[in-house]
Amino acid sequence: MHTIFITGGAGFIGSAVIRYLLQNTHHTVVNIDKLTYAGNLASLDSIQHHTNYHFEQVDICDREKIAQLFSHYQPDAVMHLAAESHVDRSIDKPSDFIQTNIIGTYTLLEISREYYSQLLPEKKSQFRFHHISTDEVFGDLEDSAKLFTEQTAYSPNSPYSASKAASDHLVQAWGETYGLPVVISNCSNNYGPFQFPEKLIPLMILNALHGKTLPIYGKGDQIRDWLFVEDHAKALYRVLTQGKIGEHYNIGGWNEKTNIEVVQAICQLLNIAKKEGKLTAYSDYIKDIEDFSSLIQFVTDRPGHDKRYAIDASKIKIELGWQPEEIFETGLAKTVDWYLENTHWWQPILEQRYAGQRLGVDNI
Ligand code: NAD
Ligand code: TYD
Repeated sequence: MHTIFITGGAGFIGSAVIRYLLQNTHHTVVNIDKLTYAGNLASLDSIQHHTNYHFEQVDICDREKIAQLFSHYQPDAVMHLAAESHVDRSIDKPSDFIQTNIIGTYTLLEISREYYSQLLPEKKSQFRFHHISTDEVFGDLEDSAKLFTEQTAYSPNSPYSASKAASDHLVQAWGETYGLPVVISNCSNNYGPFQFPEKLIPLMILNALHGKTLPIYGKGDQIRDWLFVEDHAKALYRVLTQGKIGEHYNIGGWNEKTNIEVVQAICQLLNIAKKEGKLTAYSDYIKDIEDFSSLIQFVTDRPGHDKRYAIDASKIKIELGWQPEEIFETGLAKTVDWYLENTHWWQPILEQRYAGQRLGVDNI
């Protein structure tokens, strides 16, 4: 395998995959990203001059341009991460999710199929289309004794998860019907550096630093299974290079937490940081705050809010030898430190793209 297309490489997980590939392998990486509000080339500053790195600002729905990229770079694999990824935005404006997640995936599959059909046998035997998806396609896990396995039936509840489920089905169908060598992975909630601050963990860190309230939807008793993003990047490379064609792999952190537990843990880390004098830059906002958990505010729940997601990641451990390396306590501490040290990354986002306002309630 030589040249790998990464769609959505300027996003949170895609950029972690690109940094991982360029730092640990000899592959040539082509990052194909439209640069929506969520795309950020600053996440790739550390590798932007790498000789094996190329960036193409292209929409995955643009069939002509995507076809040109295939013919120009002759990729050996596609890792498809480009997506609209935020549940609350999908409630406000589902159309972007239908367009990118479904039509965009369909477009990539069609171009990949045409390209694959013309490959010479040796290159053909190596080609892979790796579709990166989410555990949210399985819906809500009501039975606390159960976990999502690769056999769990799809039952998506949000416009986001429904659009991802649709894309998973398309990928599966292109594998079964046209013989495209596909592999699909479904991962739990990721956290770590470079995550756009609309998602729970970075939103809470940045709100707290600015002395703003920490909005917990409903009672905060919903459960998510959290995985450090760099562990996900390693798992994805394992699936790409060792996964069996046509198979699905669940990826998770074996780390279920309620939302309120996560936010309390962030508050504790910030309390310590304040005592250690690491938050002086924010003193205008937080000088009177003794305990950051005093900022927690329970707000109206997200509509259609799934109560629990939890992944059984045994298959990828047994068959591909992958398991998470980071534990939540250290991963969260690294994440909080990263946001404290990388103001230059998030400040422009808060000023120009998203100021932390509540999303997902406009249409309700
Ligand atoms: P993200 O929102 O941070 O990044 C998405 C990237 O895709 C952005 O760089 C954006 O510019 C790009 N993009 C969007 N529409 C595009 C289009 N039409 N053409 C080209 N590029 C486009 O998302 P993320 O959190 O990095 O998630 C990446 C993938 O992983 C998604 O497919 C998501 O469904 C999946 N996933 C995410 C999580 C999570 O916790 N974040 C968990 C499991 C799976
Ligand atoms: P999020 O990071 O949006 O990921 P997802 O919805 O894909 O799991 O949210 C994680 C959990 O945190 C989810 O149960 C919703 C909840 N949440 C809040 O309670 N408050 C918030 O401000 C946000 C953004 C999320």
